[in-house]
Amino acid sequence: MRTYFTASPSAAGYRASRTFAEGCSQAGDWEPTPSEPGQPARADPPRIKKESEDDLADPGTSTRVPTEDPLMWISRLATKLNSKWLKLTYPFDGFGRGVSIHHTCEVRRSYAHKIRIEDSVLLDREVWLNVPVVASGSGPAIIIGRGANVGRRSTISARNQVCIQENVLFAPGVFVTDHNHQYSDPRLPISEQGVSSGGRIVIEQNCWLGYGSMILAGRGELIIGRNSVVGAYSVVTQSCPPYSVLVGNPAQVVKHYDVSCDKWIRG
Ligand SMILES: CC(C)(COP(=O)(O)OP(=O)(O)OC[C@H]1O[C@@H](n2cnc3c(N)ncnc32)[C@H](O)[C@@H]1OP(=O)(O)O)[C@@H](O)C(=O)NCCC(=O)NCCS
Repeated sequence: MRTYFTASPSAAGYRASRTFAEGCSQAGDWEPTPSEPGQPARADPPRIKKESEDDLADPGTSTRVPTEDPLMWISRLATKLNSKWLKLTYPFDGFGRGVSIHHTCEVRRSYAHKIRIEDSVLLDREVWLNVPVVASGSGPAIIIGRGANVGRRSTISARNQVCIQENVLFAPGVFVTDHNHQYSDPRLPISEQGVSSGGRIVIEQNCWLGYGSMILAGRGELIIGRNSVVGAYSVVTQSCPPYSVLVGNPAQVVKHYDVSCDKWIRG
């Protein structure tokens, strides 16, 4: 008999996995009826399909996948409370519906009014949103568009503006900054020189920023065109057109999507 246990990380998933496991144990009573001579073999028992089945590690094997740690709900609850707390008490420029901000993220109240977070944004653990210079009167310094997903340990630091458009996906450890530390006076410690005047960054919709990648705009405007992909550990310092694959340091376009022939092409 094939037994499925799910690895769903959600509380609902955990409940579903219990139910499913229980359902499976009922199914476990089933034994194939030996086929009578001349009769076709009896078919498999009806399969119990649950939504959490999609989370199976390898449905092609009979390996048991342990269920998720039930104490995970503590961390999930802390994240839910954190998201609610931020929404209700921080003066964000905007804060959409269905936003999830992990309880380990760092966002300060003193510059929350420079941050706009749209619907269904997810900030994973230890994400840091930083606004080092809070200029009065100008618009938001950090805009995170609907459905964007910022991977764990990523940092977005903006003195002018970093705009992440909708459905952008960050892998873990991505760094996006529109300025540098000022270093013009070698006689002074860097930490006492403030930050450079910097540039602006737009990451257009549906881009994917690979693990450990960096998007740096020391000056001017840097735009990553829509649906572009930045390779793992790549360092982007210049704009690229939509539908580009950028890799390396400094990142170069190694592939692009040719709309006329509906293909990704090298070069
Ligand atoms: C950028 C990426 C998507 C390209 O994958 P691909 O479309 O299969 O492209 P290829 O592997 O054919 O790579 C094309 C060229 O770029 C090079 N390249 C690919 N990724 C690179 C990277 N991160 N850094 C430097 N060079 C890279 C390849 O060596 C290859 O060079 P070549 O043409 O001289 O042989 C992939 O390599 C990558 O970096 N993925 C990110 C993975 C990640 O961060 N996952 C986290 C999950 S959210």
